[in-house]
Amino acid sequence: MRNRRAALAAVASAATLALTLTACGQNSEGGSEEDKGGSDGATIGIAMPTKSSERWIADGNNVEKLLKDKGFETKLAYGEDDPDQQVSQIENMITQGVDALIVAAIDNKSMNNVLQQAKDADIPVISYDRLILGTENVDYYASFDNEKVGELQGTYIVEKLGLKDGSKKGPFNIELFAGSNDDNNTRYFFQGAMNVLQPYIDKKQLVVKSGQTELNQVTTLRWDGGTAQKRMDDILTSSYRSDRVDAVLSPYDGISIGILSSLKSDGYGSKDKPLPIVTGQDAEVASVKSIIADQQSMTVYKDTRELAKVATNMVDALLNDKKPETNDTKTYDNGAKVVPAYLLEPVAVDKANYQKVVVDSGYIKESDLK
Ligand code: GAL
Repeated sequence: MRNRRAALAAVASAATLALTLTACGQNSEGGSEEDKGGSDGATIGIAMPTKSSERWIADGNNVEKLLKDKGFETKLAYGEDDPDQQVSQIENMITQGVDALIVAAIDNKSMNNVLQQAKDADIPVISYDRLILGTENVDYYASFDNEKVGELQGTYIVEKLGLKDGSKKGPFNIELFAGSNDDNNTRYFFQGAMNVLQPYIDKKQLVVKSGQTELNQVTTLRWDGGTAQKRMDDILTSSYRSDRVDAVLSPYDGISIGILSSLKSDGYGSKDKPLPIVTGQDAEVASVKSIIADQQSMTVYKDTRELAKVATNMVDALLNDKKPETNDTKTYDNGAKVVPAYLLEPVAVDKANYQKVVVDSGYIKESDLK
């Protein structure tokens, strides 16, 4: 079995061959090859965007663990939200002879040169969570249904305001926030939310008092909570001196926490001036705690353990000359090709279901929420 796998891995790339031969002598530790199902001794480079958010720390750990369980070696690097640093980390991985790359890009348009180097070295590339744009040298995409994420956020807002079932007519005031403009997911999240919100804005049941409704007016560079807090401060000062904001579309928990700080400093959170509905994404511990404390209203849970499984299975298949499983071969056009994708389902979480969805599933430990 080991020889067959080694042979298959060798077909995948010349670099693999060298590593496979080295590894044959070493691969005696732990578990049968049947259990592992990986490529002997092949090394996978994992490039993650930042350690400033707990989800990416978990992603890096999960991907590493699953690959190691399959018998791969790993090289994991975090770009600390600096696109140049991430590109040079990937260049180093290529120089060091990795056999495949899993990349969650910081700037989706900064990868052309480095991925050409990967292609020249016969290294397959999985775009992880965020689609890499403008290059043919992306083999597969593993992510969630990103437009659905935005739809869940938008739907939560119109349901909780009573607009969806018609029990309230409004008008309600809403402000819009989007993610980083260099992350391709940003436009999917925003589009999904606006699919739901725009009809109510058109009917004037939702009013954006700041007037900032275009994606390029509402993005938040590098998803930074402090940047969002500052923008919310400015909006409250300029547009809400004599009025109240009823809902804030926030694409991500780190941004939601920034928005909530701004609102609280402006006196929101009392009986007379309740906090608006504030959405989020990622089910980060701070935000689930905030939901329990009746501050943030909801988050969108994406089980990143499953995402890690999808991405590592793709690598395993590619290095064993099999076709990775996909469930969407149409949607994710990166400007150079439509990248075959496997998309997972996001789930809306609020105070009513957080226990079942994020705690009982083991995603967050109950004790971490105390
Ligand atoms: C996006 C990702 C979100 C969130 C955000 C900020 O690309 O899909 O889940 O984590 O980055 O880190």
